[in-house]
Amino acid sequence: MRTLSKLTQLLAMPYTNDKRIEMPNIFVTREIPQPALKFLQEKADVVDVNPHDRILEHQEFLESIARRDGVLCTLNNKVDAGTLDAAPSVKVFANFAVGYNNINVAAATERGIVITNTPGVLTDATADLAWALLFATARRVVEADEFLRAGHFKGWAPMMYLGADITGSTLGIIGAGRIGTAMGLRAAAFRMNVLYCNSSSNSSELDGRGARRVEMDELLRESDFVSIHAPLNEKTRHLIGRDELARMKSTAHLINTARGPIVDEVALVDALRNSIIAGAGLDVFEDEPAMKPGLTELKNVVILPHIGSATIGTRTKMALMAAGNIIAVLNGERPDNPVNPEVFDQALR
Ligand code: DGY
Repeated sequence: MRTLSKLTQLLAMPYTNDKRIEMPNIFVTREIPQPALKFLQEKADVVDVNPHDRILEHQEFLESIARRDGVLCTLNNKVDAGTLDAAPSVKVFANFAVGYNNINVAAATERGIVITNTPGVLTDATADLAWALLFATARRVVEADEFLRAGHFKGWAPMMYLGADITGSTLGIIGAGRIGTAMGLRAAAFRMNVLYCNSSSNSSELDGRGARRVEMDELLRESDFVSIHAPLNEKTRHLIGRDELARMKSTAHLINTARGPIVDEVALVDALRNSIIAGAGLDVFEDEPAMKPGLTELKNVVILPHIGSATIGTRTKMALMAAGNIIAVLNGERPDNPVNPEVFDQALR
């Protein structure tokens, strides 16, 4: 009992009180919403922001973070073992994203460096955008808009821009985490059947809402819309390739707002070009910002520049969350959103 309460006390304590950084020096790799920058400036001694309106080259990134205490980085910054070794004074990398496939978390944990992310605050904005893509590709919104602007609209016609029905169709969700669940819950408004598959065996909030958990094969065969919401890792890289696309209905549409490399983009271009599937809505790409040859020439794909979480409110919340995580760590406290909480357990040993 006594041991337990001692442990509880220890867990409630800031994990590295003795390691509080007195005059924190922080680097922010890209301009962020003002309220978060202001917060950092109030709490830290030095806050430098990438002065360029572009992603830093990796070498520039390394030089910029070499002598910092904390770094607020984006999904464009590769934080591998080499980066960690090049920045030995950095105690925390706060990723301005919920996904953290740009970071070698195991290497950071080995070195006692805290990694944080921004879960929860971008769930709705990202699910909303996945729906925008679903509507845009199903109802050919972008194609029709281009047609009209080009001066081709000569009046209503029965066969003009026929798209796919959404209401009453079947939505297949790959990855029923926070965003996948939010996507699925919205489907009730369109009386859709919802299928999902998930790597975790935990039950999903979707279960109580008429959704059915199925194997990937059934999801691909039955769905009119397949929407990807899984994290990128070694198990999900090219999860959707040539074979999976071939199993989908020829009338189906693929939506991806998660990470580009989950889909084999060359296979997708072929599938769209040869009517193996009907269309796609993509916010993310395999070699972002580049796209595989042929993708931009296709009419049956709607492509967006990775803007899933891009609303003023959401990006402000993400920035404040990332900034709060950095300051907590530099104050010797446990941040709200650690990706590698093992670092704190190590500190308690
Ligand atoms: C994320 O958070 O992982 C998104 O891709 C950027 O909002």
